Order: sequence, then C-alpha cells, then structure tokens
Amino acid sequence: MIFDRLRTRRPAAPTAPTGGCPYAHAHPSAPPPFSEPEPRSVPEPAPAAPPFTDPEQASEFVRRFHREQPAAGAPEERLHAVLDEIGRTGTYVHTPAELAYGARLAWRNAARCIGRLYWRSLVVRDLRHLSSADDLAAECFEHLRLAGNGGRIRPVISVFAPDRPGRPAPRILNQQLVRYAGHHVDGAVVGDPAGAALAARARDLGWKCAEDRFEVLPLLVQERPGERPSWYELPDDAALEVPLTHPEHAWFAELGLRWYAVPAISDMALEIGGVRYPTAPFNGWYMGTEIGARNLADADRYDMLATVAERLGLDTSHDRTLWRDRALVELNLAVLHSFQEAGVTVADHHTESHRFLKHVAQEARLGRPTPADWSWIVPPVSGGLTPVYHRYYDPVDPSLRPAFVAREPW
Ligand code: ARG
Repeated sequence: MIFDRLRTRRPAAPTAPTGGCPYAHAHPSAPPPFSEPEPRSVPEPAPAAPPFTDPEQASEFVRRFHREQPAAGAPEERLHAVLDEIGRTGTYVHTPAELAYGARLAWRNAARCIGRLYWRSLVVRDLRHLSSADDLAAECFEHLRLAGNGGRIRPVISVFAPDRPGRPAPRILNQQLVRYAGHHVDGAVVGDPAGAALAARARDLGWKCAEDRFEVLPLLVQERPGERPSWYELPDDAALEVPLTHPEHAWFAELGLRWYAVPAISDMALEIGGVRYPTAPFNGWYMGTEIGARNLADADRYDMLATVAERLGLDTSHDRTLWRDRALVELNLAVLHSFQEAGVTVADHHTESHRFLKHVAQEARLGRPTPADWSWIVPPVSGGLTPVYHRYYDPVDPSLRPAFVAREPW
C-alpha cells in the first residue's frame, strides 16, 4: 500500500518537449539536431526502498496532533525528530500523548460508528512494551474487567506492540475478545455461526468445548506468522454476561438466550501517522439493536425470530402478517430490559441516534466534517423513526487516518 501511494504521487514524466527545451520547435519524434553518443547502459541507481513508515503520513499526524492540541505547542521540533527517527530506523515511536490522541481520532474517524459523541473519553491503555502471547492474553482479560466495570461500561482500547521493520507484531485471531462458539452438529450450527471458524481452529489446537449454545470462545494469540497460536480460556470474571428476560412475557427466559456485555473488536489494526498497531482491541457499549436485531435475529446468526413469534402466538403463515417485525420488536425490548435490569450499560437506538447528531453538530461547530456511512449508521429496526435516517452525511474517505482498518492476513 505504501508503495502504491508513493507511485501514484510521483509526477508523470513530460510527454512532449516543453518550453525552454532545446528541441522545443522540432517535431516530437524528430531526431535531435546534433548527434549525441548512444547512451551507454549505465546501471540506473536502484530506487531507494521507501521507509517502513510513510514520512508523509507521520508528518500529517504530527501536524494534526499539534493543531488540535494547542497545549502541545508548535509542531516543528517534533516533526523534525520524527522524520529523523524514520530516516534512521524506518519508523518512529509515538509519545504516550500522541498514542492516546491518535486512538481517539481513529474512533472519531470511524465512519460506521454511531457512538462517536464520546470519542474524547476513550481510555487508552499503553501496552506497547508487551508482545508475548501470555502477556497479551492476560492484558486482554484485564481490558474486559476494566471495560466491564461491574456493568458501567467504559470505552477502552489496549494498544500492544506495533509492527516494526522486519518484526511483525503478535496478533489476536478472535474477531472480538468475547464471542460465542459455533459447532456444526448434524448439518446445523449450534451456537453462533459467526464463531464457528474460530471454534474449529481452537479445537484443532486442543480446546475442549461443551458444544453449548452460548459458549465463550478462548482467546487465540499468534506471536509470529506461521506459528502455532496459543489459546487461553477466558476467566469467569472477564466475560460479563446478561441472561435475557422480557418485561411482560415470563416464558421469554425459557428460551435460554443471553449476550455478553462488552463488544470488544480485536481483529482490526489501529493506524496512526503511518504506524500500524495490529493488536489494539477496543470497545464501546452495545446498542440494543446490534444484539436484538442482528446477532440473535439474522438468519445466519442465532435466527430466533420464528421461535419468538411462535411463543408470541403470531400467525406465521404469511409475510404480510408482519410476524417477523413483531417478534423483532419484542426481542429488542427483551435485550434493553435485561441489560437495564442487570445494571449493564446499553443504549437504545433512539437515544444513540440523537447523540450521534449532537456529535455531528458539535464537530461542525469546530469546523470539522463527520464522515459517516449511512447504511451502518441507520439502525436495523425502525430506521425511519430515528433522525439519523432522514439526512445524508459527509463522504467517507477510506484513506482518512488515524483509523481502525481491516488487517490483511499474514
Ligand atoms: N455489532 C457487533 C456485535 O454485535 C459489535 C460492533 C461494535 N459495537 C459497539 N457497540 N461498539 O457484536
């Protein structure tokens, strides 16, 4: 990617003689008016390999950091030091303040996230000195405890070692720190189909599973490409979970549904100023619809709508009876109700939509755009009931940094 960027930025060679050139009046294909010796094949100097970390991205970040944080003073001295460090080592080390601000900017820049109003409050754990699988696992569990905070969820990111020249950083293989396993049994999946591939991988490594519907996956950490990952069972106090009940229907509890409290994405890299942190799990709190309208409802996830509709006594003989829609609302109500009863932070989609527009307005007052992806921002139930539906957003620029980006496989 860095190579591509450099290539596209190089100015194109002029295609025709330009003013000031001795051949300016000649036909472009005419031979030169005097005979030059045939150029001997002098080997072209090999183009210098671009540095591991793109100096332009580094400069852009340092400037932004200083611009948005006037207390940090003028950027020149730091810019000089960063470029010098890149020249010497191929990359540079962020100051703790740069790391913290960069992580918060990555959240602010996340075009798919409706929860960005609180981007300044992100708790940044600087764990860049850690790179062994054991340390990563232990600190991921600590992350979950801090973020779970007994139910008052705090947005937290734990930043582990970055990639360095010739030394890729270790990685977590799980999509999220907490997720449920899926198991193929008699042609169907028991549990979460989204956790089936990782469960299979964990089993290959020796993980013993009970094949429950809500079985928390172990954490898989790979220290180097091609190496056998290590796996770690989550301690009980790390994965806070909420059993689901319904405010009016007692039978709902019998469905045996539950969900975990902390959505902590662990398969995206954090990119700040040209430095890539491939292991930087981060979490916010849940918006109820993520669980009630997607994880438990999608046909390729827990697919619960028919079961809920049946218990509600709905007529499921035709789409037109809107049995899916009615079941969906009750399922979402159960999620919000249960989290609230358990004292675990959760947002409803109406409140979170208003917060998002407040964020957009606040940023606009500061003269900043809020790029947003409409199809991700609008909630998957009652879209048109929320104000985020009724407008468009600043365009998304995939090259915007700092950012959370998909990690390419090793
Ligand atoms: N949608 C994902 C899930 O249901 C989580 C994505 C992040 N969500 C969040 N509220 N921070 O597990």
